[in-house]
Amino acid sequence: MNARLTGDETALWQAAARVLDAGWTGTATAPSPGLYPHQWGWDAVFTSVGLARHRPGRAERELTSLFAGQWADGMLPHLVFDAVHPRHAYFPGPALWRSDRQPRAPRVATSGLTPPPLHAVAALRLHTAARDTDRTRAFLAHLYPALAAQHDYLARDRDLDGSGLVAICHPWESGQDNSPVWDRPLGALEPPRAAYAARRPPRTPPTGEDYDRYHWLARLHRDAGYAPGHLRDDHPFAVQDPLVNSAYLASAHALAEIARIVGADPVPHRERAARVHDALLDRLWDAGTGCFRAHDLRGGRHLPVVTIGAFAPLLAPDLPAPVLRCLGDLLLSSRFAGAAGYPVPTCDIQAPAFDRTAYWRGPAWVNLNWLLWTGARAHGLAVIADLLYGSTLRLVRQSGFREFFDPFDGTGRGSHDYAASAALVLDLLASRRAFRAA
Ligand code: GLC
Repeated sequence: MNARLTGDETALWQAAARVLDAGWTGTATAPSPGLYPHQWGWDAVFTSVGLARHRPGRAERELTSLFAGQWADGMLPHLVFDAVHPRHAYFPGPALWRSDRQPRAPRVATSGLTPPPLHAVAALRLHTAARDTDRTRAFLAHLYPALAAQHDYLARDRDLDGSGLVAICHPWESGQDNSPVWDRPLGALEPPRAAYAARRPPRTPPTGEDYDRYHWLARLHRDAGYAPGHLRDDHPFAVQDPLVNSAYLASAHALAEIARIVGADPVPHRERAARVHDALLDRLWDAGTGCFRAHDLRGGRHLPVVTIGAFAPLLAPDLPAPVLRCLGDLLLSSRFAGAAGYPVPTCDIQAPAFDRTAYWRGPAWVNLNWLLWTGARAHGLAVIADLLYGSTLRLVRQSGFREFFDPFDGTGRGSHDYAASAALVLDLLASRRAFRAA
């Protein structure tokens, strides 16, 4: 870090820090205090990365609070409910998941789904961003067994076809809830008619019918006791997603490094990473379109829509040069960043499903931009990294720390004061400039 924040950057820094402080519940950060009052497993990755730059003690607490929700089989839930809120404060709440009736679940109420597993990456960043590395080394030693259990769970219970890749059993496990990638496997479901379609008038996606399907899938998983055998043999939604598997791969590398730091054996994590790397290239790389595509295990084919998840393997080290070139070309093309004033759109602009305003079907998100920026930097793709850095800061300067943004004109959408957006701006600023921690 060779330069101080400028005046404009200082103001941005302070505004982002205020959002994180306001979202702090005492043990974790609410993604958006009004709309999302509990702790989300995917958001906790991003908020801890930002908190590491601002309030490192809270960054550790964020992750330990999340792992207090881990199940005895290693499953890390995508949602840990904060008991101070009434049970209906967020729909769907604990009543859908009924974790209190599961012998493997902890005392705190959680969901029964698991988020993209980026947690080892976040934990390692807490250490690499730290000034007091003795303290963060102790933190890593404390968290290491839980991270290893999370990965063991994924390898044991989510590698449904023995390929090395993990499968998601619900769109909410992807972080990209309403992405058009899921349209085909969701459309193939036949849920009983009922429930939410009538009660939730469809304005923008997710519509009432989407909710019928989401809810039904969650209930199937729950009613099977969240059993791995059900997921393997019967559950109707099973998709190997490039973003989720890239998160898993990047975290397996991070876990090997954490193991080395804390004096454990890194070899099993390296071996797992090598296996996932090979499977990602074998199974999810589509040479025809020149990008990674999700693979539907039930339909037995790649899913057709190309979305921002296609670029997530940038998080993987050691990508072959031709693959890297194809990804860079597509990202900069008029299907993605090349035709958007405020990249990166979450869906191929030329796809029929693209919608500049609808949740995960076109708008840009700070968290996805940040993930691609991280990967582009690591691969030395300076043009792409600079584009992502600049466009992300432009989005929040123009529209504030919104949940997502119109990729053509930068209009902010979704919730205000979204913690993940604020947190990652702190990380972006701190990556280039010296800053004064609070
Ligand atoms: C929405 C987003 C998901 C996020 C959650 C909480 O469900 O799709 O990515 O984790 O909100 O912020």
